[in-house]
Amino acid sequence: MKVNGTPTRTIWQAADGQAVEIIDQTKLPHALEIVRLTGLAEAAHAISAMLVRGAPLIGATAAYGMWLAMREDASDSGLSIAHDTLYATRPTAVNLRWALDAARARLSTLTPNDRVDAALALAQEICEEDVAINQGIGTSGLPIIEAIAARKADGQPVNILTHCNAGWLATVDWGTATAPIYMAHDAGIPVHVWVDETRPRNQGASLTAWELGNHGVPHTVIVDNAGGHYMQHGMVDMVITGTDRTTAAGDVCNKIGTYLKALAAKDNSVPFYVGLPSPTIDWTIEDGVRDVPIEERSADEVKHMTGRLDTGDIATVLITPEDSPAANPAFDVTPARLVTGLITERGIAEPSVEGLLSLFPERRAA
Ligand code: MRU
Repeated sequence: MKVNGTPTRTIWQAADGQAVEIIDQTKLPHALEIVRLTGLAEAAHAISAMLVRGAPLIGATAAYGMWLAMREDASDSGLSIAHDTLYATRPTAVNLRWALDAARARLSTLTPNDRVDAALALAQEICEEDVAINQGIGTSGLPIIEAIAARKADGQPVNILTHCNAGWLATVDWGTATAPIYMAHDAGIPVHVWVDETRPRNQGASLTAWELGNHGVPHTVIVDNAGGHYMQHGMVDMVITGTDRTTAAGDVCNKIGTYLKALAAKDNSVPFYVGLPSPTIDWTIEDGVRDVPIEERSADEVKHMTGRLDTGDIATVLITPEDSPAANPAFDVTPARLVTGLITERGIAEPSVEGLLSLFPERRAA
């Protein structure tokens, strides 16, 4: 998508061919800084410290991390260390496991001499596939927005609420939840996005608002607690979120707070959709509440907030009593019964085993 009018992706091979470059998302929205990753340790740090984040981008970065690692040590033990180091970075987004397992499966059949080039080729494939998948999600989801727009009085925008950042910054390009929104906007359909701030890391306020603004999509940042109120007052036509892992039965694990939005949507008959790329489906589990590992992050993220002072300096401040303990589960699970539809690159699935299998019939045999 566009930054200052220039089409931009979140990750790419550096022009000199010697490194991977990423946008450092911890610096947004106040600065657009590009960071160069040259080795396994830097790639692992970029994921765990959330310079990159969002399930698809975590997977893509891990794939590039395997390339960087193979340049350092392409032996069998180097392959296994690289896989395990990257796998330990963040536990919830299943795209990480998906990308790393794909890399290990492909590279382990090759001699060490061939592994560097093959790892790079796979990372590039995963990135291109991500872009195509997200475009597919956009194409699948666009008719939902068109149908709502057709029921509205002339010129009235379709009001869409989203949580966290499931935009292009969370992927290689387009985003998942945002792909139908960008397509609708680009097609001239008036849309307006309610952007949940998404405490504690504020991916909505910092990232979603930044990218929507850069692409010219009308939006309003709201505190996480406001969505239910707007739904009660008929000011939300639909919710679209992303997902970090959706089970074979359609339970949706996503950023903490998503579940509360789904409950409010159900109570107010607001359709609740999820942008779901197929690599985010965990076909090995059905019960998301029981079986998805939920990342517990540092209490410091809850106890502090970071922002820009009027001087232009970036500052981090304590917002709780110094000694108060804090807990920080990073994700929650929205049961399938609260989900209206899963918007995939192959169409919209009913959130159930049968619904997903009908779009991915090759999984019946698996
Ligand atoms: O902790 P984050 O920022 O990696 O969490 C991201 C989310 O929860 C996104 O909604 C999800 O990964 C979908 S991204 C297309």
